[in-house]
Amino acid sequence: MYQKVKGTQDLFGIEAKKLHFLETKIRTVISKYGYEEMITPIFENTDVFVRSSGEESDIVSKEMYTFLDKGNRSITLRPEGTAAVVRSYLENKLYASGNLKKFYYFGPMFRYERPQAGRFRQFNQFGIEAFGTSSPLLDADVIISASEIFKALGIENIKLKINSIGDFASRNNYEKLLKGYFGKNIDHLCLDCQRRLENNPLRILDCKVDKDNPIIQKAPKIESSLSKESKDYFKEVLKILDDFKLKYEIDQNLVRGLDYYTDTVFEYILESKDELGGLAICAGGKYSDLVRSFQGPDIPGIGYAFGVERILMIMDQQNLFPKLEDKADVVLIGLDPESKKKTLLLAIMLRRAGYLSELDYLSQNLKPQFRLADQMQAKFIIIIGEEERKNKVLTVKNNSTKEQETVSEDRILEYLKEKIK
Ligand code: HAM
Repeated sequence: MYQKVKGTQDLFGIEAKKLHFLETKIRTVISKYGYEEMITPIFENTDVFVRSSGEESDIVSKEMYTFLDKGNRSITLRPEGTAAVVRSYLENKLYASGNLKKFYYFGPMFRYERPQAGRFRQFNQFGIEAFGTSSPLLDADVIISASEIFKALGIENIKLKINSIGDFASRNNYEKLLKGYFGKNIDHLCLDCQRRLENNPLRILDCKVDKDNPIIQKAPKIESSLSKESKDYFKEVLKILDDFKLKYEIDQNLVRGLDYYTDTVFEYILESKDELGGLAICAGGKYSDLVRSFQGPDIPGIGYAFGVERILMIMDQQNLFPKLEDKADVVLIGLDPESKKKTLLLAIMLRRAGYLSELDYLSQNLKPQFRLADQMQAKFIIIIGEEERKNKVLTVKNNSTKEQETVSEDRILEYLKEKIK
């Protein structure tokens, strides 16, 4: 028996409907913020991700699905959306108007991670990216939009963690400080962190292996290295969040796993005691230098991405999905071959008029046809036999009251319109 690849999922029935329900809700909220959809390819030239996330990031060093295509080009299934959107923004010169540009995306991402609760190898992200303005107001608006999405979905027990990792100069200062500090404690770090010490000491702070290591917890905090501009910028972002009464926790160890961030970084995590507790549901930040590092103009960006499967799991847990199963408006029953054909033609006509209509394609016996009506919780059952055909009428049964009426063929739409509001 063939099996799906580890860390992937088949979605069908109600589970597929939940995904669409969620997607529609999110699209409705984010379109009011002026974000337009951007659809980029599922794969990119590998360099797009290496350049943006950084060689030392977990994504690039361990998690990418990279392969050579038949033309010997190195291709990577996208592990995240930001780099692809930046690439497209530049390639299509979308900066040319000089205005703020806002994009959102929805789609599958691929990471070779160890599958566990809420962690897949193929998963969906909903993300936004806004380019062209550096303003605490925009940072706050982006952060608040994520909280509005949680609200629209009805999700509770979400905590916002926020930090500033400063501008380029602040980061450089801090990295020097960390190199000195961790250099003295190198033997107490995991092997990955020993390697990170040289190239990206900031990443040691959010090491998944060493997260409870006291050496990491006692490391100098970034605040002391922030430039005055970065400090003021961060204060302003926090002030706007305060004014909006959005609660947050400043987490000085929050540095994010990707290299492109500057200044504001944030994560929304679920506060719960179970396996999903502490997982980031939405994460992002500002990136002032990423567009330039792609050889583009000096344009800042900011964004975030939600882990869609994680939202689905939380919504299940918190019982937030409405009833999504499809009930048939009409099941059509035919009692002889000629009548069966007629049920098909009638079903097509009813579907065109907007009624979910189904029939049993095989049987002319009543029992299995009524069983189908029960399975599909049909509101009405239409029965056609020789008698009905002869008189150009339909026998219509209301499946909840069990009342039965004879309706002339050419009045059936009117009849259903009246009965199914
Ligand atoms: P990220 O933190 O790598 O950031 O991923 C964002 C979210 O995607 C995570 O918080 C999580 O909910 C979800 N996620 C990540 N990996 C997995 C996985 N293996 N299985 C299920 N869900 C997962 C980014 O991707 C950035 N591009 C976000 C961003 C946009 N920053 C600025 N703009």
